[in-house]
Amino acid sequence: MRRRVWPWQCAMSLIRFNALISLAIFFALWFIYFHYRLENLQSSQYLPQAGADGAGRGYNPRKVIIYNRVPKTGSTTFTNAVAYDLCKKNGFHSIHLNMTKNRYAMNVIDQRSFVDNVTSWTEVIPAFYHGHVAFVDFTKFGYQNPIYVNMVREPLDRLLSHYYFLRYGDNYRIGLRRSRAGNNETFDECIEKKKKDCDMKMMWLQIPYFCGTHSFCSEVGSKQALEEAKYNLLNHYLLVGTTDRLADFIALLEQVLPDFFHGALDHYNSLDENRAHLRYTKKKIPPSAQTLEIVKNNPIYQMEREFFDFAKNQFEEQWSRVAQKDGSFVPKQFHYEKIRPPVE
Ligand SMILES: *[C@@H]1O[C@H](CO)[C@@H](O)[C@H](O)[C@H]1NC(C)=O
Ligand SMILES: *[C@@H]1O[C@H](CO)[C@@H](O)[C@H](O)[C@H]1NC(C)=O
Ligand SMILES: *[C@@H]1O[C@H](CO)[C@@H](O)[C@H](O)[C@H]1NC(C)=O
Repeated sequence: MRRRVWPWQCAMSLIRFNALISLAIFFALWFIYFHYRLENLQSSQYLPQAGADGAGRGYNPRKVIIYNRVPKTGSTTFTNAVAYDLCKKNGFHSIHLNMTKNRYAMNVIDQRSFVDNVTSWTEVIPAFYHGHVAFVDFTKFGYQNPIYVNMVREPLDRLLSHYYFLRYGDNYRIGLRRSRAGNNETFDECIEKKKKDCDMKMMWLQIPYFCGTHSFCSEVGSKQALEEAKYNLLNHYLLVGTTDRLADFIALLEQVLPDFFHGALDHYNSLDENRAHLRYTKKKIPPSAQTLEIVKNNPIYQMEREFFDFAKNQFEEQWSRVAQKDGSFVPKQFHYEKIRPPVE
């Protein structure tokens, strides 16, 4: 037998049903709203603000160049003719990193402070930093390395330049009394008397600049330092030029870093003799055959020379693959094809 349903019972269940629906809609709206709030909260407060590379507030490693210049390699000429003359026109900042007491290897605390500053000082980006500092590895602090460039010189030439520079100064800061002014001893005499100023330990400079901040880098004659210097040159430097081919170095830099160095070669070529060789040691006496013999047999010289030859070969290899006889560069040697589906 079917139970009889009275009309008043129907009305009651309709009311209950409506209340249930209202409650469900209320909860659904509340749930959506809650979710929305949560998401907003997460994106605004709890998630770190990612930079261009996902590490560091606005740090873009492609917009920072570090030129850790080695003393007496022609670095002043290069820095002034290319970085300081062009920075305003090409819209970047040139910044000198002055190392206290000429200690070129940064300690670990200074490294952190330097890396922190370079990666967060967005007002100066794009930036070209230059200074007498050994290679600093940003990856140890969780950042990508900026673009490193450098220039090397034949190690005996470099030492001779340094030796006479301390005695006679140069045409750049005329009148500045150098630390050995008045001392007229030639390099030959110094070698003969085995004095400190021409000690072959003074040669140990380009290797540690490229080797970096490890303690073995400054150990004169360290085989490990030589290997590390080569490794860093290959893996962390975009370009390393040589002093005797400054114009070629500038020409190639302009090709690979046009944002910074657009117009650099024309500018360099337009400088008069005195500015193009902005800085040269006033008096340099060529070493005797006997001195050359002593230097060439020295193991420290041999290692520095090996590193220099290594760098020079790298540059010459790169150069020979892009330079044409008429002085221009080869056009682009690649193109794309078979793009599917087509890009509108
Ligand atoms: C580096 O700073 C010291 C101390 O302020 C100063 O005496 C020296 O001239 C600076 N070096 C250069 C190359 O400007
Ligand atoms: C970086 O160092 C310079 C010089 O000390 C300072 O003026 C600048 O505020 C620093 N930038 C940051 C982001 O710390
Ligand atoms: C260096 O100067 C001293 C005196 O000031 C002089 O006796 C000596 O001959 C000089 N040596 C050279 C190589 O000119």
